[in-house]
Amino acid sequence: MEVIIRPDADSAAALVAQIIARELRANPSLVLGLATGRTMESVYLKLVRLHRESRLDFSLCRTFNLDEYVGLSGSDRHSYRHYMNHHLFLQVNVDLRNTHLPDGMAADLEAECRHYEERIRRMGGIDLQLLGLGQAGHLGFNEPLSALRSRTRVKALSPVTLRQNAPLFERPEQMPRRAITMGVGTILECRRCLLLATGGAKAGIIARAVEGPITSMISATSLQLHPRCTVIVDEPAARQLQETDYYRWIFDNEPEWEPFR
Ligand code: GLP
Repeated sequence: MEVIIRPDADSAAALVAQIIARELRANPSLVLGLATGRTMESVYLKLVRLHRESRLDFSLCRTFNLDEYVGLSGSDRHSYRHYMNHHLFLQVNVDLRNTHLPDGMAADLEAECRHYEERIRRMGGIDLQLLGLGQAGHLGFNEPLSALRSRTRVKALSPVTLRQNAPLFERPEQMPRRAITMGVGTILECRRCLLLATGGAKAGIIARAVEGPITSMISATSLQLHPRCTVIVDEPAARQLQETDYYRWIFDNEPEWEPFR
């Protein structure tokens, strides 16, 4: 795992967008794992700008999102399908048929979860997975006690998650209590993981995720098992990390990061 600390949320999101753009340019048919949440909005804004101003091409790109609420159709504006269409897919030249999210309206949810895993496998696996961080440390909707080897499945949302995301609904009781999420095991199989967390409210959970012991209570700690995971934070989110001098030294000296310094 490596940790990159940027001065503010905007430059942290810009770095994430630049890394995605570089991977996409190197491999136009990249299988890209995507995430939702407020933090990602700024990444998608920058990707849209790179598409418009620097011709970043999504035409061959395939995407898989981490999760979707159970019981919301893609046309519901609270669904993650709607979020993705709005913030990214309809703003760039991705082929919508190449964009995948779990179907939260599927009659047989277990079969839907199995099919999702199959679709990922058929595409050759995910090359680069973008990740946000819930306040309780979940990846996707891998709530406390998510097995470190779990696969795509239905998960009941924890009280912390319900509290965190309910303000995004007009009436809190509209918020579904369950979601389909890629499992921790599914995420750990991606070739590269990129986690973005910004703002002081994430400082405590980032420190536990990066420097704390691995535990199924905090699914983000599982990233310590991943061979190629980059965590990008801004200064406020880095405030409780212990080894920041070391992380900064690596960023300043590692040839891979030279174009981004
Ligand atoms: C939701 C998503 C997570 C995401 C989290 C972060 O819970 N299921 O995948 O990491 O939001 O949200 P925010 O960026 O709004 O803090």
